[in-house]
Amino acid sequence: MSIDYRAEIERLKRELPVTVVGHYYQRDEVFEMADITGDSLELARKCKADNNPWVVFCGVGFMGQSVKIIAPEKRVLMPKVACCAMARMMDATYFDESVAYMNKHGVKTEDILPITYINSDASVKAKVGKMGGMVCTSSNAYKIIEKGLESGKKILFVPDRCLGQNFANSMGLKSCVIGEEGKECNPAEADVICFNGFCSVHQLFTLDDIKFYREKYPDIKIAVHPECDPAIVDAADFAGSTSQLIKYVNELDPEQKVAIGTEYNLVNRMRQGNTYVLSSTKPECPTMNETTLEDLYKTLKSIEDNQPINEIFVDEDTRHYANLALERMLAIN
Ligand code: 13P
Ligand code: SF4
Repeated sequence: MSIDYRAEIERLKRELPVTVVGHYYQRDEVFEMADITGDSLELARKCKADNNPWVVFCGVGFMGQSVKIIAPEKRVLMPKVACCAMARMMDATYFDESVAYMNKHGVKTEDILPITYINSDASVKAKVGKMGGMVCTSSNAYKIIEKGLESGKKILFVPDRCLGQNFANSMGLKSCVIGEEGKECNPAEADVICFNGFCSVHQLFTLDDIKFYREKYPDIKIAVHPECDPAIVDAADFAGSTSQLIKYVNELDPEQKVAIGTEYNLVNRMRQGNTYVLSSTKPECPTMNETTLEDLYKTLKSIEDNQPINEIFVDEDTRHYANLALERMLAIN
């Protein structure tokens, strides 16, 4: 007899002290089952405020880890422990090497304030926390960098070079990328020094895509996520986090055409006739798409059966320092 996953998930959610969390990039059928949705910042905040002892997080690894870091008393399970490709680009060793690069170019460690995008491993957040730094998300990076600059130090921004450069540009700051091909990065001459990480999904959007839509519909608006390349953000009408993109589109006149540069599942959900995907290919995040309704069901069932699967653990030393960086961010918001 086949299982009705939807009905079973609804039953398990009713009977267990559990909250199901889903990021916007999840498949529709999984996203519809979530009690808490939002961009990375909202998910972190809402999970911290939630009272259930169990969290089942449908998203990518750093998101579940972040809940465990800020609310260690919670039992956090992930239907798929899928890792964000950008977060995988940096670890504690690469972080140390980035600091060493700045040291080698005349910037002392005590003159560096590290900021890590929330799309990073707990070990990187811990390094940042230990050095007095902060976490940021795509929705609060401006505020966090602004706060960081009050220290009078140079900002080391990891791991996303695009987010770091985009916010530096919007604030009129000088930035450079360590190890960027064909370009010199002199930390002594820049305010924001970025690690060379990126999101392969958001690199799919090109200036040709924007040109195509602008030629086809001269009045069209272009809205993109700040993980896109700085040239794309420059050419767009709006850049913002997933929640900010949704708000921007919802506030447009329904007749206004808009092409959106972010993950496919979210853009597809926003479609109302005048909304387009800013790409000739399907910009899907492979890891976000790994989680299925069956995975969600099995994870909830494992709680009922007292044999929890895919539980997230963070060792106490790492958690302590990573939490400092996350709490500094939450305090600013
Ligand atoms: P948001 O915080 O904007 O939801 O972004 C998360 C993400 O991974 C974007 O690729
Ligand atoms: Fe990571 Fe990019 Fe997927 Fe976002 S879209 S989770 S940054 S790989």
